Amino acid sequence: MTRDLRSVGIVGTGSYAPSRVLTNFDLEKMVDTSDEWIRTRTGIVERRIADPDVATSTLALAAAHAALESACVKPEDLDLIVVATVTPDMFFPCTASILQQSLGAAGATAFDILVGCTGFVYGLAAAGALLATGPYDRALVIGAETLSKITDWQDRSSCVLFGDAAGAAVLAPVADGRGILSYSLGNDGANADALKIPAGGSRMPSSEETVANRLHYLIMNGPEIFKFAVRSMAESSVEAVSRAGLSMSDIDIVIPHQANLRIIEAAAKRLNIPYDRFVGNLDRYGNTSAASIPLALDEVVRQRRIHPGNHLLLCSFGAGLSWGTMVLRW
Ligand code: UT7
Repeated sequence: MTRDLRSVGIVGTGSYAPSRVLTNFDLEKMVDTSDEWIRTRTGIVERRIADPDVATSTLALAAAHAALESACVKPEDLDLIVVATVTPDMFFPCTASILQQSLGAAGATAFDILVGCTGFVYGLAAAGALLATGPYDRALVIGAETLSKITDWQDRSSCVLFGDAAGAAVLAPVADGRGILSYSLGNDGANADALKIPAGGSRMPSSEETVANRLHYLIMNGPEIFKFAVRSMAESSVEAVSRAGLSMSDIDIVIPHQANLRIIEAAAKRLNIPYDRFVGNLDRYGNTSAASIPLALDEVVRQRRIHPGNHLLLCSFGAGLSWGTMVLRW
């Protein structure tokens, strides 16, 4: 942020996850897998699954209420709502618009961001820039997903990974030198095929054939994403930390995208940041895509593990393939 812009930071957080738990042992009965394989290859023990009649905006609404309450902001005082999701309620209107109505935030501009698991960090960067430069004073940024609805429950290589949840943050102007200090956002479109839902868009419209061939479910190249994740998390963290004028030793808390414990361990090693500065909840929620970072953030905020002046590193990767890393001073 340059000096003539307002500093913008997170002034409240909230999250929500459905109560239904799906354990690794439950998955053993659904596909050819084992609790031992899932734990050792990913670090995941269980995940939450939304009921069939629950849409992404329902989870987002609960997280939004919690975040607004913690920030002491009323829905009607919101100027902006940004929802990051790959599982919108429907193609359009955007989920942020649906949420604006259910939340009672009639005055807020609302739009979605579709950058996979990286979406929440992109949302913070976009909302932060609009608050720093523009007429907006209060923004709600949400990462919300019902990945269970796009998961192929017959594909053991992906169905063991994902879960449903939502996390939210309220953004507002903060004291100079606090809040968002820097970010590194980027995409590698050459690897776009590594993580996608092939059908249902203009390239391959829905048909009886696409449904029969299971082309409306998420497919991915796990090992390719694994390599990209470790490399991009490390490189973008170095870039964002240096843009903030800090060094790795200044980082107090790292909140990485919760996808695979081995990815997080490898990134920590490359960055030479002590592992006890990394926080997360992958074991209990699995990979919740755009919800993963705000869900973990809300947890550490409520545990009072973040103190004023602490430097946070949020670090994500996802479909695109994309990366998004941000440094904040609390
Ligand atoms: O947020 C972004 C979304 N995606 C990701 O973050 C995915 C990133 N990638 C990963 O986390 C890992 O690549 C996975 C967890 C998906 C896979 O782990 P891996 O160590 O890369 O395993 P692999 O794909 O190389 O498969 C190793 C073996 C294979 O068997 P063979 O060919 O060696 O006999 C797979 O068929 O493990 C087998 N396998 C499984 N076995 C039991 C794959 N999935 C399972 C499973 N249970 N669920």
